[in-house]
Amino acid sequence: LYKDAEKEPVTILITGAAGQIGYALVPMIARGIMLGQDQPVILHLLDIEPAAEALNGVKMELIDSAFPLLKGILATTDVAEACEGVDVAIMLGGFPRKDGMERKDVMSKNVAIYKAQASALGQYASPNCKVLVVANPANTNALILKEFAPSIPEKNITCLTRLDHNRALGQLAERLNVFATDVKNVIIWGNHSSTQYPDVNHATVSTCRGQKPVRQIIADKNWLDTEFIATVQQRGAAIIKARKLSSALSAASAACDHMRDWVLGTRKGTWVSMGVCSDGSYGIEPGLFYSFPVTCAKGQWSIVQGDCAPSTIFMWCMINLRNFISSSIVTMAGLKIDEFSRSKMDATEEELKLERTLARSCLNTQL
Ligand code: NAD
Ligand code: LMR
Repeated sequence: LYKDAEKEPVTILITGAAGQIGYALVPMIARGIMLGQDQPVILHLLDIEPAAEALNGVKMELIDSAFPLLKGILATTDVAEACEGVDVAIMLGGFPRKDGMERKDVMSKNVAIYKAQASALGQYASPNCKVLVVANPANTNALILKEFAPSIPEKNITCLTRLDHNRALGQLAERLNVFATDVKNVIIWGNHSSTQYPDVNHATVSTCRGQKPVRQIIADKNWLDTEFIATVQQRGAAIIKARKLSSALSAASAACDHMRDWVLGTRKGTWVSMGVCSDGSYGIEPGLFYSFPVTCAKGQWSIVQGDCAPSTIFMWCMINLRNFISSSIVTMAGLKIDEFSRSKMDATEEELKLERTLARSCLNTQL
């Protein structure tokens, strides 16, 4: 009897693997939730010396689970060894905030970790390694990682805002009494912080009459523009208040969603939110790690530049034809951004610029 040839295993680094997100995440990866049911994996688990015994406990439990897809486990406190040959890196290592803190309050401890681990990744990981930064402040840690790992292509470094995206879907689904899968195309713009802007202007919900704009189905504009936004922005703090610990299972699940969509592609007609290095789209300063709506195909993400519904393309052609005839510049259609959205997108961009300054000054004082 012949067995189908198995795929080559993918080696995945998880830093901070002895922590609470790590504990929720490793079984998800080993069960194929991140990279697919046919994709064998090797896990490299990294933590610091004080957590070495707990890390070894995680390794023991992984062995005891006899996961069919799990083809190897390395548990180590040596960064170079952990980064050796990794194809995917999930960066959880760091210190979470406690009740009453903002995410930037953990800045000085955490950015230093990202500076140190950037060079190890650049030196020892596979040249095309895909990196997802989860640890806070996630956008600014990703920016520091990019600055100190010049050999990693910037398109390969991302940060997690999928948790916020999923939270937005969850809030809308609860309000409409539908399944989360019935709602799509919300957008998280900006920072994974309380200034993020959860935008429903392009979101739709599936009804018996097809996909309808969320704004058409939820008539309470005030709820959408105030309570909904605040709930998503403050959800991390609400979880900390309730659990006395920051979110873990939802963060692990979102990390799987993020990597799965990046590697295997997003569904047709659907976009997701990812923190990526800005290329200037939507007027956001190039180089900042900012959350945008993206689609993914063939292992690459692209920022959504426009609504590709045939009716929109037709409208866009008509407008540009008119502009062309009147000698105006023909521009590529982007998602329409109203004044309310613009001011919220600018505010979260401003916060990211301030975080960047703070992070660089933390690193300079540590020199
Ligand atoms: P945790 O404290 O339970 O675990 C963090 C682990 O990192 C610990 O085991 C710690 O020993 C380890 N660590 C510390 N320094 C390290 C280093 N230099 N190298 C390797 N490991 C190191 O925290 P957690 O709840 O698992 O959260 C991890 C991070 O993720 C936190 O920064 C948290 O704020 C963040 N987070 C982000 C999101 C998001 O959506 N982006 C969501 C939830 C949590
Ligand atoms: C979250 O959003 O749950 C995490 O970033 C943890 C936090 O500090 O809010």
